[in-house]
Amino acid sequence: MADVHAVNFDTKVTKFSDQPEGNPPTRRRQTIIFSNFVQKLIMNSKILVTGGTGYIGSHTVVELQTAGYEVIVVDDLSNSNIDVLDNIEQISGKKPAFEQFSLADAAKTDDFFNRHRDIAAIIHFAASKAVGESVQLPLHYYRNNLVSLLNILDCQVKYGISNIVFSSSCTVYGQPDKLPVTETTPRKDAESPYGNTKRVNEDILQDAVRAYPQLKGIALRYFNPIGAHPSALIGELPLGIPQNLVPFITQTAAGLRSELLVFGDDYDTPDGSAIRDYINVVDLAKAHLVAIERLLQNQNKTGYEVFNLGTGNGYSVLEIVKGFEKVTGLKLNYRIVERRAGDIEKIWADTTFANQELGWKAEKGLEETLLSAWNWEKRVRGIR
Ligand code: UD1
Repeated sequence: MADVHAVNFDTKVTKFSDQPEGNPPTRRRQTIIFSNFVQKLIMNSKILVTGGTGYIGSHTVVELQTAGYEVIVVDDLSNSNIDVLDNIEQISGKKPAFEQFSLADAAKTDDFFNRHRDIAAIIHFAASKAVGESVQLPLHYYRNNLVSLLNILDCQVKYGISNIVFSSSCTVYGQPDKLPVTETTPRKDAESPYGNTKRVNEDILQDAVRAYPQLKGIALRYFNPIGAHPSALIGELPLGIPQNLVPFITQTAAGLRSELLVFGDDYDTPDGSAIRDYINVVDLAKAHLVAIERLLQNQNKTGYEVFNLGTGNGYSVLEIVKGFEKVTGLKLNYRIVERRAGDIEKIWADTTFANQELGWKAEKGLEETLLSAWNWEKRVRGIR
């Protein structure tokens, strides 16, 4: 099967530079024609974003559309709201195409790809992601998270779609023996079924790429995504009680929760609370754009690549609390309690490989990011 999009790209660029017509174009005109040509290629590139109404997905749709890509979102809306599409439109001026179904449904997935044969690349976010729930409902997590990737890969092979970017997580490293973690840091046994689905899906993708050379995959290992779009029109909206730190902090500040429980102050860290690498969700979304372009332009070095997406800085839970209090001027009600089962002590990324190879770097600082999370919470709750 031919790698349609990549082949088209290379052939057309070569033809252009090999065909002087009339007066040879000046260098400036050449540049303009070339960038128009690249722009046209971009405009013709349709990207499927699964889970595109979710937290990271919605921010990524905004970045893709702003860069000129045509986006189609598939989401079963099990953990997100259809109104997100209107807010994406408000930011980027365009409402993405949308279909509601579960990618774990093989027949519906096949029917979808059969009707959208012009998809050039896929970003696969759609998955169940609550660590605690995955311990209670392991079969649901394995079925939903593994079968959806299998169905997508089946369709990629069947309909000739080469490119996929997969949402993985730094959870695959467990508690690393050495910090910071590079992409070659050994993966460890997962602490939860959720974490294991990330690990197994990485293996599925790697094996599929090995078996079908026309496939190209990038796994992006996210550290801890936080914050919201600066417009405050999209952000993280957990259903029920938030499991993650920053939504719990903003909901406590908004009065929805009476106090934040800080899980442990007896870790081997400077202030005793656990350390993570918190990355702004817009920075994270931009990395997806870079990864997609790397695949579309055949710049990947191997069929399957892995990148850490973090900032390279570790912050403790108490530093996050203090940072939030500083930027908002609010006093947060919190109490230190026992460690949370399954939590690791500390992790942060070595970002060298992503910085050099992708030419991407997380740019936003912690304070700006925490403020964006609070502005989003305020807008959602109608707080002035
Ligand atoms: C977890 C997952 C990660 C997943 C991410 C999804 C693991 C080990 N980690 O990250 O794979 O991608 O969720 O968003 O599976 N904390 C409190 N009080 C709270 C909530 C959290 O003190 O109410 C602390 C935690 O103990 C932890 C830190 O804040 O030290 C960050 O926790 P959280 O936001 O839940 O993220 P992770 O557990 O790091």
